[in-house]
Amino acid sequence: MSDRIHPVPADFEAAANYRAADYERDYDESVRDPEAFFARLGQRLLWSRPYTRAKDTSYRLEDFHIRWYADGQLNASVNCLDRHLAERGDQVAIIWEPDDPNAEPRRITYRQLHARVCQLANALTSLGVVKGDRVTIYLPMIPEAAVAMLACARIGAIHSVVFGGFSPDSIANRIADCSSKLVITADEGLRGGKAIPLKANVDEALKKPGTHSVETVLVVRHTGAGVPMQMPRDRWFDAVVDSQPDTHEAVPMDAEDPLFILYTSGSTGKPKGVLHTTGGYLVWAAYTHELVFDLKPGDIYWCTADVGWVTGHSYVVYGPLANGATSLMFEGVPTYPDPGRFWQVCDRHGVTVFYTAPTAIRALMREGEAPVRKHSRRSLRLLGTVGEPINPEAWEWYHRVVGEGRCPIVDTWWQTETGGILISPIPGATPTKPGSATRPLPGVRPALVDAEGRLLEGAAEGNLVLLDSWPGQMRSVFGDHQRFIDTYFKTYPGMYFTGDGCRRDADGYYWITGRVDDVINVSGHRMGTAEVESALVAHPAVAEAAVVGAPHDIKGQGIYAYVTLKAGVEPSEALRKELVAHVRKEIGPIAAPDWLQWAPGLPKTRSGKIMRRILRKIAEAGPEGVDRSSLGDTSTLADPAVVDSLVRERQAR
Ligand code: WT7
Repeated sequence: MSDRIHPVPADFEAAANYRAADYERDYDESVRDPEAFFARLGQRLLWSRPYTRAKDTSYRLEDFHIRWYADGQLNASVNCLDRHLAERGDQVAIIWEPDDPNAEPRRITYRQLHARVCQLANALTSLGVVKGDRVTIYLPMIPEAAVAMLACARIGAIHSVVFGGFSPDSIANRIADCSSKLVITADEGLRGGKAIPLKANVDEALKKPGTHSVETVLVVRHTGAGVPMQMPRDRWFDAVVDSQPDTHEAVPMDAEDPLFILYTSGSTGKPKGVLHTTGGYLVWAAYTHELVFDLKPGDIYWCTADVGWVTGHSYVVYGPLANGATSLMFEGVPTYPDPGRFWQVCDRHGVTVFYTAPTAIRALMREGEAPVRKHSRRSLRLLGTVGEPINPEAWEWYHRVVGEGRCPIVDTWWQTETGGILISPIPGATPTKPGSATRPLPGVRPALVDAEGRLLEGAAEGNLVLLDSWPGQMRSVFGDHQRFIDTYFKTYPGMYFTGDGCRRDADGYYWITGRVDDVINVSGHRMGTAEVESALVAHPAVAEAAVVGAPHDIKGQGIYAYVTLKAGVEPSEALRKELVAHVRKEIGPIAAPDWLQWAPGLPKTRSGKIMRRILRKIAEAGPEGVDRSSLGDTSTLADPAVVDSLVRERQAR
């Protein structure tokens, strides 16, 4: 790993909101007097009833609770909209850039966004949606996605956004898990010129068991494609919304009332519904957005994430809008119609702050410098990355080519569970090292532990934990609070376990090394190995499957599947393709295995546990083949010979 230090550029520092001394001061205060620090953070929001206490949390299992600003009341939609009207009603809140570069962008002011959200809030109420009900949002990257989220927040309905790349089965599972009453979708989405049949996917999902809770489907007309409407269930969004009044009295929410559910993969079982609440989440999203992106009036801020992921929630919608910023929303993909698309959009809209994923940077890096240089990018002043470790080569390329050496890079580490950024440079305060997320933000208490949970001091490598709560922390797994506690607080009692491995260097900089559990990070998206395995074994030809992550040039990690076929089924290229397509259909394209190896048997212990360590090593092997000594002790296997056949097959690939 590179240990090259990039100092804060002097001109950036001179103009920055926040410098090194501010960081030291705030960090110290946050540890010395957390109550005072967090009470001050909360003041950035508008509370209809002020809180009297900020922090009320305990990770001790006997007395476990996480409450922030608990006796305060507020509404997230009011904080993102109404609060800005007097001062910046005519400022653009959302710039929408369509998939097709020749189609018209949209610019929506805070006043217009407020009016549309009020209309939808009224419409949802008229359709019987009340505080606490769940609403599933399955939309492309269009402004209606933000409208839908904020309208739910306005009436206290809990939104569950499902990424547009998920399959009907995945939608159905997510609807069933939280018993959604209403679904908001579109006729189709568009990505890279390809239409995504969103409404058709919802239709199919709603045929599946467990989805009968859905009473209404609102359909945004986006591409104009003809889609069958099933009356009275399906209603056109515009037809229902246009006639509604454009004012609405927001429902005051307790700080700890749920704001949204977002499903994410874990190391076992089905995706879990990560539950975030209103006050703490919004405080943290807004605070970190301003701090990490050095937000200033006039910024055109662009986060390329889809609203289907937490990055889209916190840094396309809630953080920027709570801060009264201008947030750019892009429907398309980085390489369509050509690999200069991102930079063309930057020039078209004068983007100043740009936030994307390492996988996108690597994909563009492969296309060379010409597509970048073709566009000016003069407006850019700050770059960010998120989702997975960034390799130093990609970091340097992003810095030198995209940012022309003048833009600091913020490598932001966080998780769906954390609600917002926890470890990241502050661009005017923190010298950066390519590949390191650097240091914790004020209020964040990371630590490293060994396998037994002993705290490691100084320069060390271990598992990353957090010693205390922060306001944006998830509060529960929807419908299964015990799973929340078991997953995050039992491994190391008294600490939140992130699931990540991490190194800390002598300067106290954190270097995330990746997941240490059975979660794979594919292009910055989380996938549970168990989910892919259960999709594979659902195929009639498959007896058994084991899935691990393996290094992938563009995606960071790719999905490597070992498949044992049922007796009498012969492996073939056609079957391999069929199985990959099967997973794609069951879960969605992001889960499709990149490699699929036939496995006459899987390496198991005598008690029947699959030894993934061995499978990982075989999958990781480069062109030199598998280094047998790296496989460790295989003598405890029920049948050590299976390893030989797996290695043979791998080397022949
Ligand atoms: C996992 C969380 C955070 C929003 C997008 C992903 C990995 C995330 C970084 C980073 C190294 C990172 C971790 C984490 N990760 N950001 N800057 N450097 N690793 O959210 O799907 O909940 O995934 O992504 O492994 O645990 P997520």
